[in-house]
Amino acid sequence: EKGGYEHFMLKEIHEQPKAVRDTLASRIAKDNSAVVLEELSWTEEYVNSFSKIFIVACGTAYHAGLVGKYYIERLARIPVEVDIASEFRYRQPIIDDNTLCIVVSQSGETSDTMAAMKEAKRLGAKTLAVTNVVGSSIAREADQVIYTMAGPEIAVASTKAYTTQLIVMFLLGAYMAGLRGTVAPRRMKELLGKLREIPSQISETLEDVEPIKVFAKKYGFNTDVFFIGRALDYEVALEGSLKLKEISYIHAEAYAAGELKHGTLALITTGVPVVALATQKSVYEKTLSNIKEVKARDAVVIGIAAEGDTELTKYADHVIFVPNTDELLIPLLAVLPLQLLSYYTAITRGADVDKPRNLAKSVTVE
Ligand code: F6R
Repeated sequence: EKGGYEHFMLKEIHEQPKAVRDTLASRIAKDNSAVVLEELSWTEEYVNSFSKIFIVACGTAYHAGLVGKYYIERLARIPVEVDIASEFRYRQPIIDDNTLCIVVSQSGETSDTMAAMKEAKRLGAKTLAVTNVVGSSIAREADQVIYTMAGPEIAVASTKAYTTQLIVMFLLGAYMAGLRGTVAPRRMKELLGKLREIPSQISETLEDVEPIKVFAKKYGFNTDVFFIGRALDYEVALEGSLKLKEISYIHAEAYAAGELKHGTLALITTGVPVVALATQKSVYEKTLSNIKEVKARDAVVIGIAAEGDTELTKYADHVIFVPNTDELLIPLLAVLPLQLLSYYTAITRGADVDKPRNLAKSVTVE
C-alpha cells in the first residue's frame, strides 16, 4: 500500500508530480491563453461583483491560502484577506453579498473551517470550497467546489495536498484575471506555459535528496531552527516550519526576513540553523542582506535558491537549488526540499513520521 516507500509521507511527497499534473489536467486552454474552470463558469459581471475575498482554512491549508492571496491579488487585483478558521468565526468579520469566501480543506471535514464557511454564508457571502475529498461535508455545504486531484492523503503531515492547493489557487487567480482583463494576454500565455512545466520540474527537484539527508543528519539534533524569506518565500517558510515541528518535534519558527531585526535576531547565535529562502527575484537583494545579518551572528545558513543564482553560495553555508521558473510559481518547487528536510530529520530522530504524537489527520473537534 505504501508503494515500496517506507512511509506514506515519503510516498505522497513523490506523488506530487502526478497530483499536480492531475489537478492541472484540462484546466488550461490548449494555446495557454486562459484557465478553464468548467465547474465555475463565472461571468465577468459575477467576478466583478466581489469587492472582497476571504480565504479561510487551518494549518497547511491556511498556508496555501496565504499563497492564494498573493495569486489572486497579483493576478486579478481583488483584495483578499486570509484567516485562520478558528479565529475568523469569532471575530465578527465584515461580510456582505459582495463577498466571496473561499475555504481550503484537504479532508473537507475540518470543523472550524466548516463553521467559518457557515458563518460567512449566513452573513451573505458566496462560498467556494477547495477540497480534495469528493462529497465531503465542506464540499456539500459550499455553493461551489473546485477539487484538488491529489488522491488520498494518508500521512498526517500534508504534502501533496498543499502543492495541489497552490495549483488551484493559481488557477483561480488566473481565471479571475482572465475574466477581469487584469493580466496582459502575453503575460498570461507566459505564466500558463510555465505552469505546464511545473510537474516535470517537481520530478526533477525530488531527484536530488542526497544533500538533504546529509543536512538532516548534521542538524537534526538541534533544538531550534529558523526559516526566513520575503514575499512568497515567507509563506513557504511558514509551511516548512510547520512540517518540521509536527513530525520531527524540533522547535521551528518562520519569520518574514525583514522582521528579524525587530526582535528575533536576539535568538540567532553561533550554530543556530537558519533555512533561508531566496527565490523571489523582486526582493532578492533585501533577502540577501538579511542573510548577511544572520551570518554575521554565526548562524548556519541553508539557502534555497533558483538555479542560476550565483550570489547566495557566497553567503550561505549550503545551498539547495530548485529549477528556475516564474517567481509566482517557484513556491511549488521551493517547498519540496523543506518537505524532504522535515521527513529526513524525523527519520534521523527516530520519530513516527506518519503518525506524529498528539495529532490527527482530520480535526473534527473544535
Ligand atoms: C499539517 C496538516 C494540518 C492540516 C489542517 C487542515 O501538515 O496536515 O495542518 O492542514 O488540519 O486540514 P484540512 O485541510 O483537512 O482542513
